[in-house]
Amino acid sequence: MSRPRVLITRALPADLLQPLAAIAEVEVWPQEVTAMPRADLLRRVGGCHGLLVLLTDRIDRDLLDNAPLVRAVSTMAVGYDHIDVPECTKRGIAVCHTPGVLTESTADLCWAILMASARRLYAGQQAVREGAWHDWAPFFMAGQDIHGRTLGIVGLGRIGEAVARRALGFGMRTLYAGPSRKPEAEARTGARHVPLEELLAQSDFVVLTAPLRPSTHHLIGRGELARMRPEAILVNVGRGALCDEDALVEALAAGRIWGAALDVFATEPLAPDHPLLALPNVIAVPHIGSATVQTRRAMAALAVAGLADVLLGKRPQHCVNPEVLPAS
Ligand code: GLV
Repeated sequence: MSRPRVLITRALPADLLQPLAAIAEVEVWPQEVTAMPRADLLRRVGGCHGLLVLLTDRIDRDLLDNAPLVRAVSTMAVGYDHIDVPECTKRGIAVCHTPGVLTESTADLCWAILMASARRLYAGQQAVREGAWHDWAPFFMAGQDIHGRTLGIVGLGRIGEAVARRALGFGMRTLYAGPSRKPEAEARTGARHVPLEELLAQSDFVVLTAPLRPSTHHLIGRGELARMRPEAILVNVGRGALCDEDALVEALAAGRIWGAALDVFATEPLAPDHPLLALPNVIAVPHIGSATVQTRRAMAALAVAGLADVLLGKRPQHCVNPEVLPAS
């Protein structure tokens, strides 16, 4: 039997691709920094049995119509909102992703931007560089306390729990909101389950780590922002569309909340003239939650393993629609 064909939509370290190269004909889009244009993607998926994609690739019905042979789509991400999973399931296509390996580095980044916002690190550095640092002054660059305050986590999944665990070191009280209670995570972190309204009203830091689903789209809108405390900071390391960005701009511009620290945006890359970037109380970084060399290598290796497993007829470690897999 001829070897399956695989398309990898971004250049990845060659050593990590070995498990696929050993079993398949592999085509790799040669760019690392820029995504494969949609037209190229549509053209190249035709003869492929497997796709290794990134969150910049939209895997929708249109694309799947062009890819009749595909048996597996493996994304180098934990979030799979860029993939039409029900459509894949209907066609018997396995969807794999990379949870677990990015949990800790994403929680680290969450704390990095939370702290940078609370303690005004970018503004402080800019002041030093621009010669705007004069005498020590009582309220110069005064930010917000972090220790001892209240952290509210919207979505206590793996990443949310890792964020909550770090809060223990700061002596914080942690609340969380989500569709169900997580007694084991509560026992490990001391977090308390509360309705979203209560979390918003009580938290000094509101951290979004929930997955993006139809039910969580614009979970934080005008009404929710209005419930937040004037000294509160919104931190988003989940997906941009969890929050209504227009409403967020209004709340920040009016000083209704103290600041926002954002790693994700409704449209990425964020346009340099986006109104969020005109606001001094916004910290924006380019979707780098999991961006460490170690973690990105682990994610690539896991995405490769998932795709190789499906093509070999084995059960992959992290399949979001296992019902399409042959019974084990
Ligand atoms: C990154 O946002 C991911 O989903 O892995």
